[in-house]
Amino acid sequence: MRIDVLTIFPEYLEPLRAALLGKAVDKGLISVDVHDLREFAHDVHRAVDDSPYGGGPGMVMKPQVWGEALDAVCAPDAEGRLPRLVVPTPAGRPFTQAVARELAAEPWLAFACGRYEGIDQRVVDDAATRMVVDEVSIGDYVLVGGEVAVLVVVEAVARLLPGVLGNPASAEQDSFSDGLLEGPSYTRPELWRGLAVPDVLRSGNHAAIARWRRDQALERTLARRPDLLAALPAEQFDKRDRAV
Ligand code: ADE
Repeated sequence: MRIDVLTIFPEYLEPLRAALLGKAVDKGLISVDVHDLREFAHDVHRAVDDSPYGGGPGMVMKPQVWGEALDAVCAPDAEGRLPRLVVPTPAGRPFTQAVARELAAEPWLAFACGRYEGIDQRVVDDAATRMVVDEVSIGDYVLVGGEVAVLVVVEAVARLLPGVLGNPASAEQDSFSDGLLEGPSYTRPELWRGLAVPDVLRSGNHAAIARWRRDQALERTLARRPDLLAALPAEQFDKRDRAV
């Protein structure tokens, strides 16, 4: 997968080269190019923002700068393809595991990081005439800019790509893959500060362990995220799921 990021703070995206993501880059599973938006600003101050039409606080990022940057970074590749453009914004559609799976199926993603009060809307409208544009929110809170949201989205997407995780079963079994939160996990020692590992996990009875894990996931989801449970279609529940 090819990933391009446009930002006025390229150093903010350094973590994309660390740990798991860095390994995926080294293995050639993803390529990451971070571009400095200011290189597309041509006035003496290299200004990327201006005051909003209609008044109000804050600044809006200028369309000319973004337009030129997207023309350069999102130019058709050798096969004539364009990226899917992801624009993080608190006004976007919620970023979920389902959206992560959708994005993981794309060969090329470009990210446009807005700062201040956002990007002139015409930038998104213009880009949408030639490529798929996804405005996404990583949660109901406001960040200073899109950079941290890009880190979140790229990490969630990259771990779904074949070869990125050491054990692909991890991605299949984690929270949200079956619509439930994952239950608790334990490792050695058996007894720690007076707290014991649940007996069933040491029983060797795989069917009983699977049933216990399913019950824990149901209980935890009911307690913490009843909205997820309510959204699950009836056929996702098996006969032995406790009435919840
Ligand atoms: N930019 C600022 N806040 C954001 C959020 N919650 N999600 C995505 N991008 C953002």
